Amino acid sequence: MSGTIRVPGDKSISHRSLILASLADGESRIRGILDSEDVRATAEALRSLGAAIPSLAKEMGVRGAGLRGLRPPRQALDCSNSGTTTRLLAGVVAANPFSARFEGDASLSKRPMKRVAEPLTYMGAQFDFEHGDGLPMTVRGADLRSIDWDTQASSAQVKSAILLAGLVAGVEVRVTEKSPSRDHTERMLSAMGADVEIDGNQICLRPVRRLAPIEMNVPADPSSAAFFVALASLAVEGELTLTDVLLNPTRTGFLEAMTRMGARVDKAASASSGGEEIGSLRVRPSRLSSTRITEAEVPALIDELPLLACVAAGAGVELEITGAAELRVKESDRINAVVQNLRAVGADAEELPDGLRVRASRRELAGRIDPRGDHRIAMAFGILSAASGNHITVTNPECVAVSYPRFWEDLRRVTA
Ligand code: S3P
Repeated sequence: MSGTIRVPGDKSISHRSLILASLADGESRIRGILDSEDVRATAEALRSLGAAIPSLAKEMGVRGAGLRGLRPPRQALDCSNSGTTTRLLAGVVAANPFSARFEGDASLSKRPMKRVAEPLTYMGAQFDFEHGDGLPMTVRGADLRSIDWDTQASSAQVKSAILLAGLVAGVEVRVTEKSPSRDHTERMLSAMGADVEIDGNQICLRPVRRLAPIEMNVPADPSSAAFFVALASLAVEGELTLTDVLLNPTRTGFLEAMTRMGARVDKAASASSGGEEIGSLRVRPSRLSSTRITEAEVPALIDELPLLACVAAGAGVELEITGAAELRVKESDRINAVVQNLRAVGADAEELPDGLRVRASRRELAGRIDPRGDHRIAMAFGILSAASGNHITVTNPECVAVSYPRFWEDLRRVTA
């Protein structure tokens, strides 16, 4: 295992770049956007809303329609597998004088939308659900009123939906979170001239008449880089360098947990871009130790928890995760999916209502796993398989296209 790798662009920032560029006055330039199924879903939904989004490319210009320039869609918005597309665009549609029907694949259709429906309904929009609070849902936009919302959780998607609704409606919105979730929406809005005030866990957005276009260099996704940090840490020899990685503190929880477990990761900050810090990571093999993840730490590594569980199993150390019930409503029930698949390859793992436990065992791990169509589960077990001595087959490996289409190629390249 050796080499230098630049993983694809950050998924959260890619979605937001397209949405905010569509709402700006003038032409934004986006470089290094992630071209994956999730981001394509956002691009396509925005096109249905009348935005001029060209094909995703290494460098692309997006001519914004202005805050009130979107149009009623002629067909349903197909959000595919993407929760971020659905929840952020629900906020945008809620503030427009039209309605849109949101659809998704089987996994997305089961995910809870009440968390965005509640605050947006309070603001004046209307949500129609056909079953429970999943998709399909129809959002009927209206003249929204101001809101001061306590999310009682940490969800960047809920926070962003409210901020986008307030932005488009031209009303003041205030969101309080339990602990800070990823803050890319706030950072980009500030960079585009919006009036954003942050005070601890509270964000206030005041009305502006226009949004300036943005020049965005999308950094490498730390959630994708995490797979290679894990791989290099579990390896017997060699070293990997990851360049241009987003080092926003709301996203570095995995690096912190790994460092605490004894991983050897050297961070070198480089230039910041579009209001975001970036840097490179040099990772060497290490002897890892046991750790525990509790609720306060969860938001900064929520998407990396399946991987951390695979790292613990691969290293033969103990891991306990609690305060992460949210994992049950991600692209799959990630608590159940991780534990069942770890057991399928011979690891000692158990579910907790709000997390999981992996017990130290020195057995060789082997067998077949079913990622249940969940990209992050497929990649986490792909890493466990590549780590020396493990023969694990991942069924349906193509599901990685949601966030990292060339994952298997990159993995082969650095392990060749
Ligand atoms: C995301 C927020 C997180 C994260 C998801 C991407 C975003 O979800 O798990 O992969 O881009 O805002 P929640 O907001 O539901 O925690």
